[in-house]
Amino acid sequence: MQVGRETFEQTTVSQIPFSELELSKLTTEYGTPLYVIDEHTLRNQVHKLRQGYSGYKGPVRIAYSMKTNFTPALLKTFMTENTLFDLTSPGELYFYIRSGGNPENVIYTSVTETWDEFSQILRAGVRLIVVGSANGLSNLMGVAEKEGYNPKVMIRVDPEVGVKAEVRASRRNGRFGVPLSNNTGSLDGAASLLRRIMASRLEFEGFHFHLGSQISDPTCFLNALDKLEHFITKMRKECPQLPVNIIDIGGGTPVNYGIRVPTPLEIGTMITPRLNALADTLKNEFTLVVESGRYLSAEACVLLSRVLNTKNFGDQKVVFIDAGYHLLLDAVLLRQEYPQYIIPSCEHNPNDKTVLAGRLCDTYDTYPLSPASNVCGAEIGKLMAISNVGAYSVVFNMPFHCQTKPATVMRKADGTYKCIRERQTIEQLYGEEGGNLD
Ligand SMILES: Cc1ncc(COP(=O)(O)O)c(C=O)c1O
Repeated sequence: MQVGRETFEQTTVSQIPFSELELSKLTTEYGTPLYVIDEHTLRNQVHKLRQGYSGYKGPVRIAYSMKTNFTPALLKTFMTENTLFDLTSPGELYFYIRSGGNPENVIYTSVTETWDEFSQILRAGVRLIVVGSANGLSNLMGVAEKEGYNPKVMIRVDPEVGVKAEVRASRRNGRFGVPLSNNTGSLDGAASLLRRIMASRLEFEGFHFHLGSQISDPTCFLNALDKLEHFITKMRKECPQLPVNIIDIGGGTPVNYGIRVPTPLEIGTMITPRLNALADTLKNEFTLVVESGRYLSAEACVLLSRVLNTKNFGDQKVVFIDAGYHLLLDAVLLRQEYPQYIIPSCEHNPNDKTVLAGRLCDTYDTYPLSPASNVCGAEIGKLMAISNVGAYSVVFNMPFHCQTKPATVMRKADGTYKCIRERQTIEQLYGEEGGNLD
């Protein structure tokens, strides 16, 4: 498997799932900035991810991680693809249920794990909850006892393995989940939580880990599964009836932003033999849950922006577009290289010295270019398509400099277009900020 940075073939806008002509037409109707999302690509990502794990001999469920993009039309699309949903807040649960979601298809992983939060989600019908702290487990047990629920529970463990990823969630002395091995005597350890669950009215369902996002080397999954198997084998000696109905390996499937990354098939080919061996050891074909946010939602979506100004500064050409990091926070936070393409496209010039800047009055508002980008020929009035922005973008939209949220248009599977999020008006923003309260 080839992993890592490779010279990426120079691309044109045809790499994204829309033609230049249709994108231009959509901006004529809806203006810029504008998100355009392709329903077919969303569905296809689910199929490709599922296909990647088809070598696993037990059942496989894909869970969409709603934190990446909570647009209701997108949720509804995934609902019809029979995915589960990975949720982490009562707000997400509200969106999910209002969009027609069944709470029984939710895996709820809270960060703060308060009594009130557990009470709220149990009342709403959620039945599968991931716990990752001793206090959280006490709260869940308390609510279940007091309000008469028998939720199924998974323990979120941190296998503390090395992870090559843009965002690493598993690490020594981390903050998510509990360590598998715990020599400190603290109650926040996997063995301690497991013993308490087994002695309670909660139903123990299995284990969950999340190693990171945009994982570039899937070996970390193998290392995590080794550690998990060791732990379960040890606990089975103490508790031979320990059920393991689900193993949830979290998210992390990467997206090609112009740098070669392993595909779901390559990842699946590497780790499904290990999962099959684990099922043999456990004498149980547990349900494998693969969570995914970025891979499922990123590639379907393009952000269209217009070039508003250009200037020459030294030997560089600075190009200002009407999208800034208020729409793509990851571009500054993580220096995420989203591929950008100028429309109408021009031939790529390797010596081009264009600096792409957003419209914000902030030093950090410049876009790193991806190896796949082609911003040559950027002139006032042209369009800039920024691709693969369906994940961790819309959810970060913010009103810095009184900027309003762009509209989102979906190209439906039948080829028609539908506005699925209306552009926020400046009057609405003024009202939301309390402007009408006197
Ligand atoms: C628990 C959990 N699962 C899944 C995901 C989704 O990860 P990704 O977008 O890399 O698929 C995240 C992201 O932060 C997460 O925290």
